[in-house]
Amino acid sequence: MSGPVLSDFGGGPFGIYVHVPFCATRCGYCDFNTYTAGELGTSASPQSWLDALRGELATAAAQFAELPTATPEVATIFVGGGTPSLLGGAGLSSVLDAVRANFTLAATAEVTTESNPESTSPEFFERLRAAGFTRISLGMQSAAAHVLKVLDRTHTPGRAVAAAKEARAAGFDHVNLDLIYGTPGERDSDLDASLDAVLEAGVDHVSAYSLIVEDGTALARRVRRGELPAPDDDVLAARYERIDARLAAAGLTWYEVSNWAASEAAACRHNLGYWDGGDWLGAGPGAHSHVGGVRWWNIKHPARYADRVTVGGLPAAGWETLTADERYTERVMLAVRLRTGLPVEDLDPEGLAAAERVIADGLATRVADRLILTDRGRLLADGVVRQLLVP
Ligand SMILES: C[S@@+](CC[C@H](N)C(=O)[O-])C[C@H]1O[C@@H](n2cnc3c(N)ncnc32)[C@H](O)[C@@H]1O
Ligand code: SF4
Repeated sequence: MSGPVLSDFGGGPFGIYVHVPFCATRCGYCDFNTYTAGELGTSASPQSWLDALRGELATAAAQFAELPTATPEVATIFVGGGTPSLLGGAGLSSVLDAVRANFTLAATAEVTTESNPESTSPEFFERLRAAGFTRISLGMQSAAAHVLKVLDRTHTPGRAVAAAKEARAAGFDHVNLDLIYGTPGERDSDLDASLDAVLEAGVDHVSAYSLIVEDGTALARRVRRGELPAPDDDVLAARYERIDARLAAAGLTWYEVSNWAASEAAACRHNLGYWDGGDWLGAGPGAHSHVGGVRWWNIKHPARYADRVTVGGLPAAGWETLTADERYTERVMLAVRLRTGLPVEDLDPEGLAAAERVIADGLATRVADRLILTDRGRLLADGVVRQLLVP
């Protein structure tokens, strides 16, 4: 298959996402592209993945060098997974070295890695800080042991908070904790305990996601068999309001529907690049890229991915050039969820008329020619997007 045909960079900030496709065990709710050692057998390993990643980064850099515009400096790097912390401090330093060998990092680059609380230590964070990482994102999910059990998480309730404190002690000013709310069996008091723990950790960023029952997961099978109830929409809405109120009172303000930050500098610039239509290279198995309106997605299995890198060319499974309609849809979907909102001038006439109805329904307001969700609108963000796109 021929690879993506690129025309040029889009002119926004340029980021690099690196996908680490390894986990020690699979959490029952998760459908991310990740594999346990038992599932991979001898077909792929962290070493074969790192070798392939180096090859992909070199190929991408060479292809970008052919474009009319010089490759921009890398404004943000995000190493995600899977479980990047399974690579250890030395492995993650090698990932950053591989990026640096092929691209120029901006002096002010934001460099994040996701980490699972159980595979971190003070030495791990110190090593990452020395290597040039600037931000840590930890999967906490909950402070309640019985909720962590339903989610198949292997860490103890206190470990995520301890890890966040270790990261801060190692010099990380920017630390995020991920929460999942609405897990079957979670009570209001469990969520309160999770929020107490997040605030005690002193982090400057929180992401909170309602539990999504993804098709094909162990959780979906348990819900289908009636072993667990599906998350209830009213409960999810009430939990979201509780999270927002507690975080806002502690000085963490929402800047995207599921993300809160203690200051502008604490917001995740890498994710803002996705939401604001920036360019990014997604390297690693299954990673998605977007450069100047061309989108491609990599082969998912680590062994097939590595084979393709060896053959040459980008390891893409498919690619497409976004049409004007698709670009419009993406712009509306992503910008509406931001606190900065959607410039009304970006809406077509049908979208503008729908925006008036959304405002009349109290789901959004118009501030200085931007359409911005109200508190109630945030609870119904997906519905607002649907109304704007299919008036
Ligand atoms: C895919 S994980 C990768 C990072 C790391 N392995 C971890 O578990 O923290 C990133 C985040 O996605 C969220 N997530 C994954 N699957 C989800 C689901 N089905 N519903 C809600 N959130 C989910 C979790 O909060 C998780 O921390
Ligand atoms: S939630 Fe994180 S640790 Fe759990 S399987 Fe998914 S990527 Fe791995």
